[in-house]
Amino acid sequence: MKLMVSIALLFLLPSYASQTSVVHIESTPKPSADGVIQTETEKIVSLVCVLTGTVDNKELEWRRNGAVIKLDDGNKENRSSVCINPVIYKDEGAKFTCQLKSNASHSASVTLNVTYLAEISGSENVTLEEEESLDLQCDMKANPLVTSVTWKLNGTLVDLSTGGFIVSNNGVNTKLHVKKVDRSLHEGEYQCTIASPAYEERSRTFQVTVTDKTLKFPLMPMIAGLVVVGLTALLAIVSRWRIIARWFKK
Ligand SMILES: *[C@@H]1O[C@H](CO)[C@@H](O)[C@H](O)[C@H]1NC(C)=O
Ligand SMILES: *[C@@H]1O[C@H](CO)[C@@H](O)[C@H](O)[C@H]1NC(C)=O
Ligand SMILES: *[C@@H]1O[C@H](CO)[C@@H](O)[C@H](O)[C@H]1NC(C)=O
Repeated sequence: MKLMVSIALLFLLPSYASQTSVVHIESTPKPSADGVIQTETEKIVSLVCVLTGTVDNKELEWRRNGAVIKLDDGNKENRSSVCINPVIYKDEGAKFTCQLKSNASHSASVTLNVTYLAEISGSENVTLEEEESLDLQCDMKANPLVTSVTWKLNGTLVDLSTGGFIVSNNGVNTKLHVKKVDRSLHEGEYQCTIASPAYEERSRTFQVTVTDKTLKFPLMPMIAGLVVVGLTALLAIVSRWRIIARWFKK
C-alpha cells in the first residue's frame, strides 16, 4: 500500500510541478522526464508552448539560451510554436524556454541533446616542396565525444616516435604536423579517421606529394634594388633640371 502511494506520488509530482506554471511545452520528439529532447543533426524538432490557465495578458515569449526569439504576430497569444529545422550541431545543449511575456515566473523549458559526428569524407591533394612544413587537419567535433582519432600513412598507423610527426587533438580538430618534409619519409596517402559511440567511423584522405626544392627567386631584395636605382636617377634628373632652368632664366 505504502509502495503504491509512493508510485502514485512519483507520477503526480511532475504534473503537479508543471501546474505551478500556466505555460507548458509540447514537443516532437517528446522530452525525457527531466526535459531533455534527444535529437540528431539534420532532424527537425518542433516545440509548441501552450497557455493552460487564465491570465490577463496571454502573450507568450520564446527564448533560446536566454536570447529572445522573434515571433510572427499570429504566433504569440495563447499558443506559440517554434520549429528547429534542421537541427545543427550548435544546438547541442541549447535551452528553449517559453514564458508569459508579462511574468517570467510562469515558464517552461526543454534542452536539446544533439547527437552528431563531424562529417569528414573525401580526398584532397596536397603538394609541397622538400623541407617545407606539412599540416593536415580533420574536424573531430562530436557528441558524445569521439572515442578514437587515428592518422595513417599508406595504410599503417603514423609512427609518432620516428619521422618527426606531431599529432595534436583539441576536441574540435585533430592536426598532423611535420616541420620539414622528406620525400622518402613523408610522401604518400594519409588518412584521418574518427570514431564515436553513436556513428560508424568516418575518414578523410590526403594525397601528399613532395616535389624537389626550387631555388626561390629573391624577389623582394630585387624590387628594393630597382626602386633605389630609379630614385637615384630621378633625383639626378631633378637636380640637373634645376641647373638647366636657372641657366634658361639668365
Ligand atoms: C507572477 O506569477 C507569480 C506566480 O503565479 C505570482 O506570484 C506573481 O505575483 C506574478 N507577478 C506579477 C508581476 O504578476
Ligand atoms: C545525450 O545523448 C548522448 C547520446 O545519445 C548520451 O550518451 C548522453 O547521455 C545524453 N546526455 C544527456 C544530458 O541526456
Ligand atoms: C607510400 O606509398 C607510395 C605509393 O606506393 C610511395 O611512393 C611512398 O614512398 C610511400 N610512402 C612511404 C613513407 O613509405
